Amino acid sequence: MKNIYKNSPKNLNKAKKLLKKSCIIAVPTETVYGLAGNAYSNLSIRKIYKLKKRPRINPLIIHYNNIDSVKKDAYIDEKFLKLYKKFSPGPITYILRKKKNSKISNLANANLDTIAVRFPKNRVARTLLENLEFPLAIPSANISSALSPVSSADVFDEFGDKIKFILDGGTTNIGLESTVINLYGKIKILRPGSITNHQISRVLKKKISILKKTNKIISPGLLKRHYSPGIPIKLNCLKKEDKAAFIVFGKKYKNNKGVFNLSKNGNLREAARKLYKTLREIKNLGYKKINIVKIPNSKIGIAINDRLRKAAY
Ligand code: TXA
Ligand code: MG
Repeated sequence: MKNIYKNSPKNLNKAKKLLKKSCIIAVPTETVYGLAGNAYSNLSIRKIYKLKKRPRINPLIIHYNNIDSVKKDAYIDEKFLKLYKKFSPGPITYILRKKKNSKISNLANANLDTIAVRFPKNRVARTLLENLEFPLAIPSANISSALSPVSSADVFDEFGDKIKFILDGGTTNIGLESTVINLYGKIKILRPGSITNHQISRVLKKKISILKKTNKIISPGLLKRHYSPGIPIKLNCLKKEDKAAFIVFGKKYKNNKGVFNLSKNGNLREAARKLYKTLREIKNLGYKKINIVKIPNSKIGIAINDRLRKAAY
């Protein structure tokens, strides 16, 4: 894996140079690894869609270092500021109205009149952003509809040497993509994540719900099938079927062959961190199907269940 580079000042500098030349590189964030490109450059954005085989109607998240740089690209309001103060930098993405004179490539936001804005917390991602004169479009570093990567080795598993430069930052801390919240028009969670609608409701002093089924594509990450390891998944199983990999949660399960425990202690954060890694491992071991027990639907469990439903679709 010659294309994996450890996090060092020299390599950060190299990463910076590549991004300036409109090259695409893989970078760690606290949620999942992403494919980063200059958000001002149409060329970079086109390369990202092509690498990911991503439908052009599915817009990308623009990553910033601080709030001042966002003001050039989007309108911000009180609600945004309240959430920003509480949760950013961190695993949350805000949908804001885009400014007409913004330099963000229209391809990056799929010609919508909004942009998705995030301030990553991961040290490597932040250092990179601090040293660039442009924000970065960073979708998850997976082929469209497949599993998101949580380590540099996972990125290699997805793309091999199609990506010339993978910046290593260890295993991601959270393991699931950021919460996406719409702040233009009706406030709604478009994609659940580790920051929950209850936490957000408390800050805004208003009940915020999670978008249910929709026919219109508001957030195409809500496409029904996504996050898929490419083999059938059966949810809410009580026991293991013959030849299936069995994903479990909690201490009552034995460590038998084919059993993969997301958290012996029944800790949902640990389960979130291990979910994609476990699904990828099972796929690579050659299993043909997956059974998974019911995962509690509270806190980050809501996001886990959201991803599992889509992976099973
Ligand atoms: O944690 C994350 O957010 C990761 C890391 C790498 O930062 N990134 C990520 O990006 O998950 P991606 O491209 O895989 O998911 C972006 C999500 C999609 O569901 C997309 O539809 C939604 O954000 N999105 C982007 N721009 C939008 C917009 N203008 N309006 C509504 N949804 C938008
Ligand atoms: Mg994604």
